[in-house]
Amino acid sequence: MAKILVTGGTGYIGSHTVVELQKEGFEVVIVDNLSNSNIEVLNGIEKITGIRPAFENIDCVDYVSMDRMFEKYNNIEAIIHFAASKAVGESVEKPLLYYRNNLVSLINLLQLMPIHKVRNFVFSSSCTVYGQPDILPVTEDAPIKPALSPYGNTKQIGEEIIRDTIYANSSLNSIILRYFNPVGAHASAEIGELPNGVPNNLMPFVTQTAIGMRKQLQVFGDDYNTPDGSCIRDYIHVVDLAKAHVVAVKRLLAGKPKKNVEIFNLGTGRGLSVLEIIETFERVNGVKVPHKIVGRREGDIEKVWAEPAHANNELGWKASETLEETLRSAWAWEQNLANRAKAE
Ligand code: UFG
Repeated sequence: MAKILVTGGTGYIGSHTVVELQKEGFEVVIVDNLSNSNIEVLNGIEKITGIRPAFENIDCVDYVSMDRMFEKYNNIEAIIHFAASKAVGESVEKPLLYYRNNLVSLINLLQLMPIHKVRNFVFSSSCTVYGQPDILPVTEDAPIKPALSPYGNTKQIGEEIIRDTIYANSSLNSIILRYFNPVGAHASAEIGELPNGVPNNLMPFVTQTAIGMRKQLQVFGDDYNTPDGSCIRDYIHVVDLAKAHVVAVKRLLAGKPKKNVEIFNLGTGRGLSVLEIIETFERVNGVKVPHKIVGRREGDIEKVWAEPAHANNELGWKASETLEETLRSAWAWEQNLANRAKAE
């Protein structure tokens, strides 16, 4: 079975994707510098699939080490490139760190692909490229809006770098996946989201508040132009998202893409407010999430959700997990983490 390089494979979306790839029989090589993940994630993956993926502790910014890695694992047939820095606020404070990490690593991979005869590339992009869309649900044709942060800009520029590179070298193919908001964890609760320090994102803050690690969740604004005043997002189960990567890799390997660069939204098509998420989380898990309304967070988009029809029709992929199951899985993972901490 084909060998797939997964950069950032010990991260949140990366680890779930490795599991789905292995379940489908792919051989996986993970490259990760563990800057925002833990080596123990490999144990979780092995527990679920029975297979320990090959692992190399390399920073993708390091061209020479990446070159050697491609030599060592020859015949890599496709790359899924997750490895990137992703904290919006940090990117405003340290723009060059973000431009270097996210763009140099991408350029290195695209440069190394023809040298090592790798032709297929899946790129992690984000719905952040749409900014506040004029029309909802947002389709892939919606205009790209000026980025609100250096992080968002790296995703826009990254997409352009891929397009320009492939225009110049038509033996390469890429599928760009624009993620909406991934939440939840594998049903086994062996892997999940594990942010360093105080979480920036909603779901880990919800689960950490529910378990008592944080006193109170802050809801950033209830005066938006939405039914309950809080922001709306398209929350997608991370396992659904992971499965879309397997479909994308298979499509590339089968030579099925209709264009050298294809772009797909990965979302459910359903928009939910922050308050709806909290209410549903409390209800399905029978726990309280103490929260209070505070002022708006700078740079937040009011509302965005996906039109997933293109991915549904072309990829034959559809997000299938219910919101209830998704929120249960997030809670099960947080509880598992707490039990592990107690056992140590
Ligand atoms: N929110 C709160 N309280 C919190 C955290 C978040 O009310 O403590 C709210 C936010 O204001 C927003 C919603 O929850 O309305 C979702 O916020 P997240 O930070 O979880 O997600 P974002 O949609 O802001 O951003 C995420 C990723 C980005 C990515 C973007 C679009 O963090 O990396 O989705 O893909 F760019």
